[in-house]
Amino acid sequence: MRMRLLITGGAGFIGANLVRIAAADPTVTDIRVLDDLSTGSRANLAGLDVELREASILDETRLSRAMTGRDVVVHLAAMSSVPGSIQEPVAAHSANATGTLCVLEAARREGVRHVVLASSSSVYGANPELPKSELTWTSALSPYAAGKLATEAYASAYQACYGLPTLAFRFFNVYGPGQRHDHTYAAVIPRFVHAALRNEPVVVYGDGQQTRDFTYVDTVCEVILDAVRRHVHHPLPVNLAYGTRTDLHAVLAELELILGRPVARRYAPARVGDILHSEADNKLLRQLFPQVEAVPLGDGLAATVAWHEAQLPLRAQLVPPSERQVQPVVG
Ligand SMILES: NC(=O)c1ccc[n+]([C@@H]2O[C@H](COP(=O)([O-])OP(=O)(O)OC[C@H]3O[C@@H](n4cnc5c(N)ncnc54)[C@H](O)[C@@H]3O)[C@@H](O)[C@H]2O)c1
Repeated sequence: MRMRLLITGGAGFIGANLVRIAAADPTVTDIRVLDDLSTGSRANLAGLDVELREASILDETRLSRAMTGRDVVVHLAAMSSVPGSIQEPVAAHSANATGTLCVLEAARREGVRHVVLASSSSVYGANPELPKSELTWTSALSPYAAGKLATEAYASAYQACYGLPTLAFRFFNVYGPGQRHDHTYAAVIPRFVHAALRNEPVVVYGDGQQTRDFTYVDTVCEVILDAVRRHVHHPLPVNLAYGTRTDLHAVLAELELILGRPVARRYAPARVGDILHSEADNKLLRQLFPQVEAVPLGDGLAATVAWHEAQLPLRAQLVPPSERQVQPVVG
């Protein structure tokens, strides 16, 4: 079956990668993006066959128009930063909780057949259980996590009350090309890669033994597209990560292998609110998406390094890795 897709937040990191992968899929007829460009950008979609509409999901009229004639919606738009949500809780609630409700309501009104939504592993919060199963308890420790719990709750309510097929994914730590290192609260992998490529020490908060379930962005997009193609819906949210818990020292060791030189570290105090360990139980994911194979960390990191390298000024690119100045490992 051929389909017309709407991706909210499609000019952001995961969204733009999803547009790139969906554009190469013969079952997807055309792709429209609705994005207010608050953290995303037009440049992320350069050269891709996509219609970009610049508006907020909170603008009812423009949301409705963007939804018209769409078969499937992938809802990624959100205020995507945990610390940002702590600074501005009401804005985070509007974008993440009210915004999701607006998207689901517009989808119902416009007769959309399927809605896939982005939730987050942050909903597990203070729950220490490892790996995290979807059946275990949640505990929001930030307005961001509270908004994602609301996202999941509205997805399930629309399925139960209106028969709208929905699927909410709990993304864990997604990384890959296109992820920005220069946001105030940038994720760890783009910060590490950017600093290492510039021969600057990477900043490690805490002792570096904290672990994350890193998932390469193409893997995330392949799962989303598989859900879209096969119309997969589920009453429960589904973890989207592969149970590959990796500590920051192991990430840096992979990075050193790729760069062929040591990477200097600077240790800083652990950040308030940072959890120590994160790992997904992925039984439900594997049951629903048995075909998708996760890209291993080494391969994903190599592609991420190549992308960051291509963003560097030309002079820096001209210095081959073997001739770059080797920094001593500190800390
Ligand atoms: N990257 C991760 O590791 C991760 C982890 C868990 C969950 N998520 C979720 O996945 C989704 C995509 O995340 P991302 O990493 O690509 O973040 P991102 O910030 O790059 O993308 C979010 C996009 O939404 C847009 N947006 C924000 N508010 C909007 C609004 N009101 N109306 C329209 N557009 C709006 C932004 O401009 C941006 O393009 C988000 O819902 C995020 O919460 C991401």
